[in-house]
Amino acid sequence: LSLVIVPLVLSGSFATQYRPPPVSHTNFPKGFLFGSATASYQVEGAWNDTDKGESIWDHITHNNPNFIAEQQNGDIADDSFHKFKEDIRIMKDIGFKSYRFSISWPRVLPTGKVADGYSKTGLNYYTELIDELLANGIEPLVTLYHWDLPQALQEERGGWLNPNISDYFADYADFMFSKFAPKVKYWITINEPLSIVNGYGDDARAPALKELHGIGEYVAGHNLLLAHSKAYKLYQDKYSHNLGKISMAFCGSYCAPASDSVEDIEAAERCYQFTFGWFIHPVLKGDYHPLLRSIIDENSQWEGRKTSRLPYFSQQEIDQLKGSADFLGLNYYTMLLAKPGLAGLDPSDQRDSRVVTLWDPSWKPTVASWLRVAPEGLRMLLNKVKNDYGNPEVLITENGYPDDGSDPLNDTERINYYETHFAAIRQAIYEDGCNVVGHTSWSLMDNFEWRDGYKAKFGIFSVDFNSPNRTRTMKKSAYWLKNYIAMHDYL
Ligand code: NOJ
Repeated sequence: LSLVIVPLVLSGSFATQYRPPPVSHTNFPKGFLFGSATASYQVEGAWNDTDKGESIWDHITHNNPNFIAEQQNGDIADDSFHKFKEDIRIMKDIGFKSYRFSISWPRVLPTGKVADGYSKTGLNYYTELIDELLANGIEPLVTLYHWDLPQALQEERGGWLNPNISDYFADYADFMFSKFAPKVKYWITINEPLSIVNGYGDDARAPALKELHGIGEYVAGHNLLLAHSKAYKLYQDKYSHNLGKISMAFCGSYCAPASDSVEDIEAAERCYQFTFGWFIHPVLKGDYHPLLRSIIDENSQWEGRKTSRLPYFSQQEIDQLKGSADFLGLNYYTMLLAKPGLAGLDPSDQRDSRVVTLWDPSWKPTVASWLRVAPEGLRMLLNKVKNDYGNPEVLITENGYPDDGSDPLNDTERINYYETHFAAIRQAIYEDGCNVVGHTSWSLMDNFEWRDGYKAKFGIFSVDFNSPNRTRTMKKSAYWLKNYIAMHDYL
């Protein structure tokens, strides 16, 4: 997730103000999609199998090994490229109804461009994966871009900074739709645009272009939105008879006001608009939220001239963006409490939002510095999107708990995390009327957690990274989920 700042702990207790009402509904709506997720670079391995192209993550881990904890990389990872059938057997045993995975763009298109030809081995891998899922009654939720950009496209005018990138992405999406639209009903174009932009103005992710801080994020974010809307339009024009649904997977730490003062409520709104809102608002409404636009414009004076670091959409682009999601994919892990920040923050800071964020002391810390356990934030987020955007269909595309694996199979904190987050979802559905159609746990298995390497473990089954066979073992949370799904499945 993107918020790498580590907030302070709030001294007054928000927990004393917030008491979740008792859960009166113990089941889920009919057909609720219980699923689990992974992403290509984090689990596949086989980084140079036959004609696969290099990705920006292959590139950075090989050329700058200290970029990753313990100099790790995803060369082998979980070896899911070879072991996907075993993964699917485990998913089936647990009872998952869906599997969210991503397609590695350079595995299918080695240079990133359709015109340069595709990899038969790469395409074949995803064909077999999808067919195996369907044969086991598991719905494939396919993400087209989960951060492994073809390195060749990074080298051509800066990857997501390149004005042509949205067309390359649309061509790639067209290619994948042409192969899989009849089989795949849920598509995510781009995973966590808010995290991706942290590679174009910070070094939180590849390609780690820190020097573009304060500008690169907005340009990359703009191109990500255009790429998404072009892929969406293309699907509507050419493939909609397949009745698939498309979204982005949006993310952020949900921002709630630190108190009920007007200032804190406004700060929380700014915080929201600079996280989830940055991308959700244009996708649903066609343009950036006026609050985001006005704050960035105000902070964009250059040599006395008024300019903006946030690009503008043309009318035609606005028309195409508006309503370009059939549901909202939401990744939720944690929340923050917001208060007004100092006036006159560094204007090149991408978090022009001018808020300071705090933790409530009752939220349990985890091994990830950005993640504390706060299920109430999930319910608040679901209510926020319901109220702001007319109760859209929501699929929770990620939600999960990290530990250090010191007691690898006995992961009771993870069970607690899922249990309380499921309760928050049921409250949102049955007490607040939110339209939630599924939950996807992150992650099916321990995997390459980006800059944290293999240290932070999110899996519900563990993987032995020391064994050449990458042996898989179900954790207690996997058994718990199996039981939970069986108890709540009224298909
Ligand atoms: C969100 C990202 O999509 C995923 O790749 C990552 O592993 C999880 N957050 C946990 O940080």
